[in-house]
Amino acid sequence: MKPRVLAVDDDERNLALLTAKLEREGYELETARNGVEALQKAVSFNPDLVIMDVMMPQMDGYEALRHLKSREETRYIPVIMLTGRAEIEDKVLGFEVGAEDYINKPYSLQEVSARVKSLLRMRALQTKLRDTEKVAALGEMVDGIAHEIRNPLTAIGGIARRLYDHETDPQHRDYAQWIIRSVERLERMLGRIDEYKRILVSTLVKGDINRVVSEAAKALLEIIEGQGKSIEVKLSLMPDPPPVNYDYGNMKTAVFNILQNSVEAIEKTGVITIETVPEAGDTLAVRITDTGIGMTKEEVRKIFNPFQSTKFEGAGLGLTITYRIVQDHGGEIEVDSEKGKGTTVTIRLHPARS
Ligand SMILES: Nc1ncnc2c1ncn2[C@@H]1O[C@H](COP(=O)(O)OP(=O)(O)OP(=O)(O)O)[C@@H](O)[C@H]1O
Ligand SMILES: [Mg+2]
Repeated sequence: MKPRVLAVDDDERNLALLTAKLEREGYELETARNGVEALQKAVSFNPDLVIMDVMMPQMDGYEALRHLKSREETRYIPVIMLTGRAEIEDKVLGFEVGAEDYINKPYSLQEVSARVKSLLRMRALQTKLRDTEKVAALGEMVDGIAHEIRNPLTAIGGIARRLYDHETDPQHRDYAQWIIRSVERLERMLGRIDEYKRILVSTLVKGDINRVVSEAAKALLEIIEGQGKSIEVKLSLMPDPPPVNYDYGNMKTAVFNILQNSVEAIEKTGVITIETVPEAGDTLAVRITDTGIGMTKEEVRKIFNPFQSTKFEGAGLGLTITYRIVQDHGGEIEVDSEKGKGTTVTIRLHPARS
């Protein structure tokens, strides 16, 4: 999407020159001829940046700037003021009211274009930082809650197990069983939150994708055994794959979470196929196919959302974690599924550039 710029000037000629220049540079332009119009367009056009003249009829540039900076929805839009008089008070006034930059008139279009570019770059970085801070704050909160819940949960689970063992009334035993299962569900969720915290940093080093996949497959055999299902696992690894940059532990988690879902999708008997295959354009694919219950298109669409689960004991975080890891590796993930038939999940990775 093109970055949007709102240019505000009552001088038609200046406006036309400015607009033409910035459009040539690949921006989407909207114009306003005075402060009042500028305020309306700042909301309706939702620009990434405003360039505004100071001397204008109706409402001058400084007043418009003050309004822009006092409203929540327009506060973060950077503004460049075009000031006709180069007096120092003017500039100070502009900065005090919150202009991000000012340019003296007469200005060169080249200069305006360079300042626009640098301000937009800065704004993109700021937005990213704000998002990161939000995620970090949320993470800390979730972590705090998880920590507080853990001890009481252990107590509830332990006591419920004791009740279950000593109770003779079948109805009461059912109740205790119910508590135990709910506790296990919450414990699985806490485990996932820990896992999420661990994967937040991926340290990439060159390695063999087959090694990760076969290790994850080994872990898969262990959980199949514990579940008492009859599942055949077919492993097919391409010979001598080109090295990829990966974080061994995180990538193993990413693959394992997919395998875990495959086991859970198979009710009693089925097949899970794990392959590493070369694809066009030097891409390496890890493909996992199961003959499990499958999903509708609607279910597939929500599969990576956090806390999206159709299982009683599911936290709905397994694939959220996998997605994040694959993204950190610069890869892609694709899900194909048919209800009642089965599911194929493909992770695509690009070989390490040496
Ligand atoms: N192979 C699959 N076959 C059928 N449904 C699947 C498959 N993989 C994922 N799903 C669906 O996507 C949902 C989300 O999966 P995800 O792994 O993120 O969470 P979960 O398995 O429910 O819980 P957990 O966090 O414990 O892994 C699952 O609840 C399930 O409905
Ligand atoms: Mg899962």
